[in-house]
Amino acid sequence: MLQPDLTYQLLRNLTSPVVAITAVRAGKENGMISDAAVRASIVPTVPRLSVYIHKFNFSHDMIYETGRFALHLLHTKQFDVVRRLGFVSGRDQDKLAAIPHHAGTLGVPILDECFAHFECSVVNVMDTGSSTLFLGDVVAVGRGKAAGELLTATHFRSNMPAEWQREYEAKLKEAQRYAEARSRDIKPVVWQRR
Ligand SMILES: Cc1cc2nc3c(=O)[nH]c(=O)nc-3n(C[C@H](O)[C@H](O)[C@H](O)COP(=O)(O)O)c2cc1C
Repeated sequence: MLQPDLTYQLLRNLTSPVVAITAVRAGKENGMISDAAVRASIVPTVPRLSVYIHKFNFSHDMIYETGRFALHLLHTKQFDVVRRLGFVSGRDQDKLAAIPHHAGTLGVPILDECFAHFECSVVNVMDTGSSTLFLGDVVAVGRGKAAGELLTATHFRSNMPAEWQREYEAKLKEAQRYAEARSRDIKPVVWQRR
């Protein structure tokens, strides 16, 4: 018999480092946080990564419609970036206004400060019902200027300030309710390159 809470806790061992995902659509820039990104190719000449993004996030449609995003590994001194990008939606505010960035080769925003960044062009997607898995060809990379230690999801969850905890848990619960209602409604998708 599956114990949902135990299963969820064990699955948390499969989260990725904390990453910041940025996108731009019709001149509007945005960024969000994810801990569901992985390397998706072992071939040095065909570098790929993938990331799950919930459909309710503003970033989801921006990436789906443009087929472009940048993924940034963060370092342990960047809790402020996680808070700015991961706790509120870009529908409500210009989240990148206070975070120094510049346009990358694909035109997507690249954070000046990070552990490393990857610019990606989407080559395929998979629908999960509640989210989309984006498979990206990595077309450009770079390192941050002052790269410290990589920010893992466990490090973030264990060390985030106590006053953020309640907000984080509430957002997570809300996302879980959304996902529970939609996760079984999976549609086959044929991706057309943008
Ligand atoms: C540590 C952390 C991990 C997160 N992981 C994911 C994730 O894997 N997928 C996702 O869609 N949202 C994830 N989120 C939530 C989004 O970052 C959040 O909903 C954000 O406000 C979306 O912004 P947007 O609406 O501007 O795109 C995470 C947030 C945090 C703080």
